[in-house]
Amino acid sequence: MLNVVILAAGQGKRMRSDLPKVLQPIAGKPMLAHVIATARALAPGSVCVVYGHGGEQVKAEIGDRPQFHDSENRGLSPISWAKQEPQLGTGHAVLQALPQLEKVGAGRTAVLVLYGDVPLIRATTLQRLIAAAGGDKLALLTAHLDDPHGYGRIVRIDGKVVRIVEEKDADDAERAIKEINTGILVAPGEALARWLPQLGIANAQGEYYLTDIVAMAVAEGMAVVTAHPDANWEADGVNSKSQLARLERIHQRNFAEALMEQGVTLVDPARIDVRGELVCGRDVFIDVNCVFEGRVELHDGARINANCVIQDAVVGPHSIIGPFARLRPGTVLAEDVHVGNFVEVKNSTVAAHSKANHLAYVGDAAIGSRVNIGAGTITCNYDGANKHRTVIEDDVFIGSDTQLVAPVTVGKGATLGAGTTLTRDAPPDALTVSRPKQVSIAGWKRPVKQKKG
Ligand code: UD1
Ligand code: CA
Repeated sequence: MLNVVILAAGQGKRMRSDLPKVLQPIAGKPMLAHVIATARALAPGSVCVVYGHGGEQVKAEIGDRPQFHDSENRGLSPISWAKQEPQLGTGHAVLQALPQLEKVGAGRTAVLVLYGDVPLIRATTLQRLIAAAGGDKLALLTAHLDDPHGYGRIVRIDGKVVRIVEEKDADDAERAIKEINTGILVAPGEALARWLPQLGIANAQGEYYLTDIVAMAVAEGMAVVTAHPDANWEADGVNSKSQLARLERIHQRNFAEALMEQGVTLVDPARIDVRGELVCGRDVFIDVNCVFEGRVELHDGARINANCVIQDAVVGPHSIIGPFARLRPGTVLAEDVHVGNFVEVKNSTVAAHSKANHLAYVGDAAIGSRVNIGAGTITCNYDGANKHRTVIEDDVFIGSDTQLVAPVTVGKGATLGAGTTLTRDAPPDALTVSRPKQVSIAGWKRPVKQKKG
């Protein structure tokens, strides 16, 4: 049985933000939610988050929002919370979590320690670490860095790990070591329970160092083994907005690679942002600078032109979006729908072969098939207090600059003349037009500018 402890009590002063560090987002989701999702992918018996600074906010944000937990993992591995106040070091932090873990598993359990501010760690790497620990060994995730500055160093004698020394406690020879402690480790639960209360604070920072358990394991004759991440960025922590942005780009690049692997055409994999789940069919094309939020589906042959923002929407097969279009939550487009430049669609269904190609707002509407929505058309769905629906049946033609004052229905095959302000239902197969009759005044003289003085 595996238990996971996620350390998330650090303050994160360098973020210079009112938002606790572990709630800072990567791909629109708090860093801590990424770590929890990865932890849950390992199907552990329990996950305990050690919180401290801004803890109530962290609990509220993560605990109450199921969207932060990946759908396939929902319902598994309950999360428990352990408060660490004050924060006396990483060893002290893990000690606070132990009572929660003991409730869960009896007997020999392995404890995996993760950091809430190391968001991109991958399950495959953790599985290797867990396998290396094998339930009776101490396993450390380590990496070799050209610049190991700031990290704890892995001290080996004859190739065997004997202890970890923190940067601030290290001598020159130890500082020259390039193998660093990522901080992520797996230890036998009952050994942790034995070791942690024995930690002292006789070190440069006066903290209870989790890393001191390595020497304790060695003293007991327990094997200490190491595993390494597939890529070093997996173990990168976030302490500043700059580091946050760096990991955001790495994460987005990984996502873009995965999309291309599936056959999606990305005009520039460096210029796409996916903040949620993007499900793509075959031969989907995405031009530059598109942002996808929430759950978005792009069906076979869908084409997203440059500079579109799409959130919680479905784009049907062979539909064409943008450039410069915005699809807001609840938009469901069927096959071969065209949503052109400066068109916003919200909470609306659009059936096959319909088009809104220029400058329109379609909100709270049900639009039939083969409908043409002219430039400048607006559904007036909001009366200042309530939202109302607009229904546009099949084969309707809506002239440019039309306002549809909801609730209103446009019957099948109807035509609305340009400039119509529709306040009552338009009957099927008829022309409805509300603009005043056109008049021409012959011999009309334009005013001329009067001379001053
Ligand atoms: C720690 C390791 C170091 C490693 C480095 C990797 C120790 C003593 N040192 O150092 O070997 O190279 O991480 O980044 O473990 N935290 C708490 N409560 C605390 C202190 C920390 O929850 O009292 C959390 C932090 O929020 C953070 C993590 O533990 O997520 C690491 O804390 P940090 O202060 O960054 O540790 P380092 O001193 O960098
Ligand atoms: Ca750190």
